[in-house]
Amino acid sequence: MKGVLLAGGTGSRLHPLTRITNKHLLPIYDRPMISYAIEAVVNAGITEVMLVTGGTHAGEFLRLLGNGHEFGIDRLSYGYQDRPGGIAEALGLAERFVGDDPVLVMLADNIVGGSIRPMVEAFCADPHGARILLTPVQEERHLRHLGVPDFDDGGRVRGIVEKPADPPSKFGVTGIYCYDADVFRVIPTLEPSGRGELEITDVNNHYIRQGAMAFDVLEGFWGDAGESIDAYYAVNDFVREHGANKG
Ligand code: G1P
Repeated sequence: MKGVLLAGGTGSRLHPLTRITNKHLLPIYDRPMISYAIEAVVNAGITEVMLVTGGTHAGEFLRLLGNGHEFGIDRLSYGYQDRPGGIAEALGLAERFVGDDPVLVMLADNIVGGSIRPMVEAFCADPHGARILLTPVQEERHLRHLGVPDFDDGGRVRGIVEKPADPPSKFGVTGIYCYDADVFRVIPTLEPSGRGELEITDVNNHYIRQGAMAFDVLEGFWGDAGESIDAYYAVNDFVREHGANKG
């Protein structure tokens, strides 16, 4: 299985900090944010990774990560996104790197307290379709900033609503996804959303319509450090006290 870490975007929700650097290079406790996503992917047993970034600070990732060996990566590739066209567009840049393999995709501002290995192992056991990782979220205000799954009576996900005004459940879709290589046939069929981006939620809804979507519920802490300055500090506080990627 290959890994794709998405570390682009303008980081507008963390302006003005992100005028002078890429969001994923900002510190989380004692390390740059990106290093936590790398650790999560490597701990899940994935050692071939592509980092997709963009903007004016892309070169700093090379300086920090080099060939990736120090971080436990065997082969580290880099992709460059010319314009902030969305998560799904950024993933599309990894097509040749991924080839016919299954792929774990992680938004590099997502930080977990535990391990994503169970999800990766479950997908590797049957590497077809897609598999997403959900996290329980109590606050409606928070859910309105996320993708939120809508469940049918049988407990299956029948759709995901991106940033819903009226959240259909108390779960958020984390930025951690497994796909088969068909994902690269799905991306070119997408239309830009209201925010002018190719949405990963549209990719996921495609798989749901095909009846090819599974999910896991993450145990322990999850945070999106790029969501807001308050979320950034909440993640910092958690990591300083408890660490990340335990287990
Ligand atoms: C993205 C996804 C959203 C998901 C979130 C998790 O949102 O579109 O479905 O819940 O990541 O971090 P964005 O950060 O682009 O607003």
